[in-house]
Amino acid sequence: MKRVRFLQVALTAVAALSLFLSGTVVATAATPDQGAVATKYASVGGARGYLGRPVTPLRCGLAAGGCYRQYSGGSIYWSSASGAHVALGGIRARWGTFGWESGFLGYPLTDENCTLVSRGCVQKFQGGLIYWQSSVGAHAAHGGILSKYAQMGYENSPLGYPRSDEACTGTTSKTCTQQFLGGTIVWRTGKGTSVTPSSGSIGYVVNKRRPNSPIGRAPSDLVVVGNQYLRREAANQLLAMVRGAAGSGVGITTVSGFRSYWTQLAVYNQYVAQYGRAYADTISARAGYSEHQTGLVMDIGNPNGACGLSACFATTPAGAFAANNAWRYGFIVRYPNGYTAITGYAFEPWHLRYVGVRVSTAMHNLGYRTLEQYFGLPAAPNY
Ligand code: DAL
Ligand code: ZN
Repeated sequence: MKRVRFLQVALTAVAALSLFLSGTVVATAATPDQGAVATKYASVGGARGYLGRPVTPLRCGLAAGGCYRQYSGGSIYWSSASGAHVALGGIRARWGTFGWESGFLGYPLTDENCTLVSRGCVQKFQGGLIYWQSSVGAHAAHGGILSKYAQMGYENSPLGYPRSDEACTGTTSKTCTQQFLGGTIVWRTGKGTSVTPSSGSIGYVVNKRRPNSPIGRAPSDLVVVGNQYLRREAANQLLAMVRGAAGSGVGITTVSGFRSYWTQLAVYNQYVAQYGRAYADTISARAGYSEHQTGLVMDIGNPNGACGLSACFATTPAGAFAANNAWRYGFIVRYPNGYTAITGYAFEPWHLRYVGVRVSTAMHNLGYRTLEQYFGLPAAPNY
């Protein structure tokens, strides 16, 4: 009699277990993924690590046959395509707003990496990245916008961290916009991406279609370099370039750096008086439209004045040094020979624009000669 009752109880227990197994909750040692999740958990310190104790069993049956387990400090997600990775904190929460593993981001491909500039973190997912940084919170980047951001150097570019997620309008013809600390990336169906660095950032593009903003803007961090003014970072880099040139036996002098709106007005008017407006427009910017007003430009010269502000400057020691080496210090020759239809200006081998070493190196390596082409902005041959 006792034996029969025991058998009944045992059969009921087996029935309950099989019911349990038929749902999405599976917690037996036999599941193939539990090994990967358990190994990951152990590798981050187990119960004594930042994940703490488990708060759920291993749950499987997620998209693409994946599993996860939640712990007091975060979760581990596993799928056969992505492996096992930790998701936690602000990045995990943001991932959740996009629909977890079933959203466009899919599964995590890495744990978060929190060794970025300004104590930022990034985590790679199958469908893009999520960044977190304390001043901006967590935001995703993906698709065409992410490709452009990557090409520019991610968080180390003038764009810095994303400060919004992308926002799209339209259905068949879409326009998607994402804000970054240093500017905006816009992606349009069939038109690719363009970047608009924010006013005052070292990547800000000034040309005949893009005045300084506001038009009378003056930077607040100008310092003296030689007999001129430049923004602090540009000044330090220019001095590094001058020292580098001196090390190769080449002298470089500073001819014209920051020019205010009013100084530019006087310069432009003088050229108009001398050559007429049409020609003046090919060699001098109108007030408000000069890159010199950004404090990021220096016209350089040779100590003996050879070919000063003339095309033949390119063949002098200072001009040749700049053409070959300015990019190493974060400068570009902003108005190269043969690009007047894009820049709007004749060749100026002496006019060096500071854009930061990341951008100048990327432009050098990728073969971009103008900021308009690099940022995907329209050509600016005229006003
Ligand atoms: N010479 C350049 C184009 C300027 O006036 O800014
Ligand atoms: Zn210049």
